[in-house]
This record gives sequence, C-alpha cells and structure tokens, in this order.
Amino acid sequence: MQGLIVVTWERYLYERFGKEFLEVYRKAIGIQSHVVPLASRIYKDEQWLIGVEAASKLTKLSPDTLLREYGRYFLLNGLTGHFCAYLLSQVRSGRALLLAMRDAHAQMRRASPQLIPPIFRYESISSNPNELLLIYDSPRHLCSLLWGTIEGAAERYGEAVRIIEVACMKHGAPECRLEVQFLPGKGQPAETPAQTTQRLARLRLAHLVLLALPEREGITLSELADRLRQRQVETEQLRPRFLLEALEHLQFAGLVKSNASQGNELFRRRYWRAPTSGK
Ligand code: HEM
Repeated sequence: MQGLIVVTWERYLYERFGKEFLEVYRKAIGIQSHVVPLASRIYKDEQWLIGVEAASKLTKLSPDTLLREYGRYFLLNGLTGHFCAYLLSQVRSGRALLLAMRDAHAQMRRASPQLIPPIFRYESISSNPNELLLIYDSPRHLCSLLWGTIEGAAERYGEAVRIIEVACMKHGAPECRLEVQFLPGKGQPAETPAQTTQRLARLRLAHLVLLALPEREGITLSELADRLRQRQVETEQLRPRFLLEALEHLQFAGLVKSNASQGNELFRRRYWRAPTSGK
C-alpha cells in the first residue's frame, strides 16, 4: 500500500482518537515511537491491515466503520490535498473526480507496478448524469473505504451524495456494485481570485514540466530548469522549490518517474515521463 495511505491513516487516528490513542495503537502493532511512516514509500498491505484490525479492537468500532470514516478523511485532509494536487485541482465536482479516478488510478499502476489502486468501471443508470453505477472489484475488498472516499469526494466539492450498495464481494458477489447519486449541497467555498490564480499557475507549471521531461534517460533539476528557460518560462517559476513541488505532484499522479529510490541526492536525481499507455 502506498505510503500516503499509511501516513494519512495515522493522521486520521490521531485527529479522531487523540495523541495518546495513537501511541497505544503504535505500541500494539509494534511500531517504535520514533519511526515515522513516509508518503513516498510503499508498505506491505498486511502491515496496514493488521493496523486496521488493531485500531478496531482498541476503539471497539468495526473495521468497516473505521475504513469508511478514514476514506472520507483521505479525500478531505490537507496532506492528500497537497500530494494529489495535480489531480484534485483539475476537477470541480465529486462526480468529475470519481470519473477521473479510473484513468488516474490506472496511470499510478502503470508508473509503479507495486501499486494496485482500484480501476473502476461505470455504467449509467438513468438519464441524469449525476447518477451512476460504480463497479469495484479490487481483491483487497476495501469497499467500506471506497464508500467513504465517495462521500469525501462529494464533501470536498460541497455536494451531498446518496449511495446504495446493490452487490458486495464480501457477501459473495463477483464485484461490488454501488449506485451513486451526487446531489447539490452548499457548494464549494469560493476561491478568492488570488487562490484561483495560484492554482492555475501551479497547474500550468506542472503541465510545462511534464512537456519538458524526456521519455527516457532522465534529466536533473538544473537541466529541467534550462529546458524551461528556453521555453520562456518566467525565472521566478524556475526556483527549485516550485520545480520540486511540480515534480512531486506529477509523481503522485503517476506521470513522472525518478531514480530517487537509488539513493541519489536531490540535485543529482534524474526525472523522466512515465509511459501513459500499455498495461
Ligand atoms: C473519488 C475519488 C477516489 C476514490 C473513490 C478512490 C478509491 C480508492 C480505494 C477504494 C482505494 C483502496 C485500494 C483498493 O481498493 O484496492 C484507493 C487506493 C489508492 N488511491 Fe484512491 N480514490 C480516490 C481518489 C484518489 C486520489 C485523489 C488519489 C491521489 C493521488 C488517490 C490515490 C490512491 C492511492 C495512491 C492508493 C493506494 C494504492 C496502492 O497502494 O496500491 N486516490 N483509492
């Protein structure tokens, strides 16, 4: 399971049940207090699932309740908002995000074969585009988490959602089938003009970075800055911190790869575009 899930899970436990609970939880599953999970690492599924079971025992809440609450939290917390900004800032409704996640999850799998995010299928169930049937068949059977993420997606954009589970793998069905209806809510808090400008500027820089990267034999941060300079990108935007942020967001979307795992220090690290077709 990708580290972002492990990190945000611990944050959820901390915010929901408190600091002391998190300490007891970590002790129960044998994690030393100084060990910090990293969003960029990949953890074994079993490790995380043991944590869910332990949290369930300690809180006396069922794993399904915790996973649903956590799913909602995953879509609403600031860390996901930061790391997944490239995806989240391109859509403006829960439905659009849900529809985008089939291709977005598929792209994450293509870039990192150790990741297996779910690839949804959708069917329309009425003439109303805000109603759809979502089909989920992940071997992890995390449909409670799915339920929570859909609720979180709606809430993120100030909408309401009605979900009816018409079939579930946990009850012997070959796949989970969820009827989802997005409804207007109080609406998303309006962005200030400055926030809109900043969001669009970040998105534009990420697009430019993606276009400037090669498909193989990656380039370093300073070579990337040179390429962007040649494309007339403003000097202010070429600061390492802006370029690194754009690269990080693109990596979380599965669009960019780097050789960071080989222990290369920041300025010698190489980046290239991840393939966007094929398995
Ligand atoms: C409506 C929006 C979304 C839904 C319904 C959704 C649903 C899910 C579910 C149910 C899982 C659990 C894994 C499984 O079932 O096998 C999952 C995993 C994951 N999702 Fe999403 N997700 C959404 C948005 C996002 C966003 C915005 C990101 C941002 C990058 C993201 C990144 C991931 C990652 C990295 C994993 C872990 C995959 C792995 O380690 O194998 N998801 N998602």
